[in-house]
Amino acid sequence: MKAENLEFGEAIRQLARQVGVQLSDGRNSRSDHPAFRINEAACAFFQRTLASTQGADARSYMERRGLDRAASEAFQLGLAPEDGESLRTHLLREGFDAAQLVAAGIVREGDDGQQRDLFRGRLIIPIREAEGRLAGFGGRALDDSQPKYLNSPQSEVFDKSRILYALDRARDSIRRDGAVIVEGYMDAIAAHQAGFQNVVASMGTALTEPQVNTIRRLTDRVTMALDQDAAGQQATLRSLESSWRIYHSRVAGRSGDTTVLQRQENPEIRIATLPPGQDPDEVIRRSPSEWKELVENARPLLEFVISTMSASVDTSLARGKAAIANQVSRLIFTVQDGPQQDQYFRMLAEKLEVPLDTLRASVSRPAQERRPRSSSAGQAPTESGEAVTASPFARLDHDPLEEYCLSLLLRHPDLGEYAQPLTEDMFLRAENREIFSRLLLDAASLTEQEEIEEIHSRAEEFNDGPLGIREQLESLKARTLPPMDLLKRRRALGDVVARLEERNLRQQKKDEYDRFVDSPEGLNDEDHRTAVALNERLKRNQETRSGLRASH
Ligand code: UTP
Ligand code: MN
Repeated sequence: MKAENLEFGEAIRQLARQVGVQLSDGRNSRSDHPAFRINEAACAFFQRTLASTQGADARSYMERRGLDRAASEAFQLGLAPEDGESLRTHLLREGFDAAQLVAAGIVREGDDGQQRDLFRGRLIIPIREAEGRLAGFGGRALDDSQPKYLNSPQSEVFDKSRILYALDRARDSIRRDGAVIVEGYMDAIAAHQAGFQNVVASMGTALTEPQVNTIRRLTDRVTMALDQDAAGQQATLRSLESSWRIYHSRVAGRSGDTTVLQRQENPEIRIATLPPGQDPDEVIRRSPSEWKELVENARPLLEFVISTMSASVDTSLARGKAAIANQVSRLIFTVQDGPQQDQYFRMLAEKLEVPLDTLRASVSRPAQERRPRSSSAGQAPTESGEAVTASPFARLDHDPLEEYCLSLLLRHPDLGEYAQPLTEDMFLRAENREIFSRLLLDAASLTEQEEIEEIHSRAEEFNDGPLGIREQLESLKARTLPPMDLLKRRRALGDVVARLEERNLRQQKKDEYDRFVDSPEGLNDEDHRTAVALNERLKRNQETRSGLRASH
């Protein structure tokens, strides 16, 4: 790198060329997956069908929706025939075998063993990965039939949670202008058609961690368009908070001997709220300039969170204020820029109607803050017999590994000191991360009895916290764990800690690899050092894990 003044990625490639080594890895072999070729063939077939006489209805549907020819071609929109067999027949004739078509998800095998095309009579929207590979399709019903959209099934090739729709066409604009994230396919297509090429769609779900990471590699400026319904919801706030934390997660520190450096000094996430009852598609068609204005006037995420959260509880109650002050200040502390941090505290103080000094004093050193001991001091925690409400998170996907770890720690506070290697960013789910950081992070500095009281008194604060964490906490505490002696539970914790760490390291490896593939020109010395240090940590983790296995 020094001799030829090259970036890390260039140096690797050049060396590989010089010594005749083929750079390859998991990702490359995935690119060879037959499903990608099948999808390309299907895509061409759908496009031809749309252009044929069969496509008349679909074409007039598109016209009604204002989709022009250029957009339709750029996004390679197509039509799936009604009959449910012509795609399969066509692809078999092209030389693919039936099992491959089923594996690719484009053909489904019914209970009767009969194979049929997945998409029938739907407008087809090809979904490409950032690098252009065709991972799957969304199919929109041409009338009111349900489901409105049918998507390719989840698979190794099509992983909806990792893809942002239209990113393959938006990448360069995003690097230049920052990213705008909308929800729907049609929203993204309408935006591109109107010349807003930095727009991608999250495909109807809250942003996932991989999606946020993908965007973060391209830009530090993100605007999210929220519709009115979503804007006020707790689930939305949780997910925004989580996105915010991910954006800030590459801050130096807490990584043993590695200096993990922050990539973006002051990432900016802003929220644009749409007029009631409208989605971006409608706004853009009515008035591109209104959309432009809406995006330009988007509010900084923290500002949005502060006002939405303050509006969500009764701030005339001290308790409500404290809960919000606590939650929001954790986010505000992540802002690196001093004056800006100050400004957010001012805003929060104003919304909560408390003097700035009072607010600052109450949140500045959360770890030292102690509540007065309650009369239960001195008693060991009892397995509470109170009725446990089902966690609202239980209905969503949850993370068994994180939950097991937290319930072990909650049940056995004496394990606190063995939890040292855990860091906040090992918890992917916002509620678990919050519970970990609020209840356990500094528990190790306390005596066992203090710890127990601390956990109980802090748990109180969740009572009217707007994040629904209380329920998750209750459900974690109510879990049945097998009886374990001290040695056994130390091992159990050691194991789960090593697994969480491993998962976290592997994710970091993957991010590193993605960065390497995406933009070798963006890699530098710092990435090189980080890469080496990461490998070291992974190696040590593996050693720890095999040591643990041996001791079982
Ligand atoms: P919307 O219901 O907002 O649809 O879902 P839309 O994008 O505005 O589509 P039109 O304008 O009604 O045609 C937002 C996104 O959620 C996903 C799709 O990615 C959709 O674009 N979605 C929605 C599904 O995957 N399946 C569904 O049944 C509905
Ligand atoms: Mn729409």
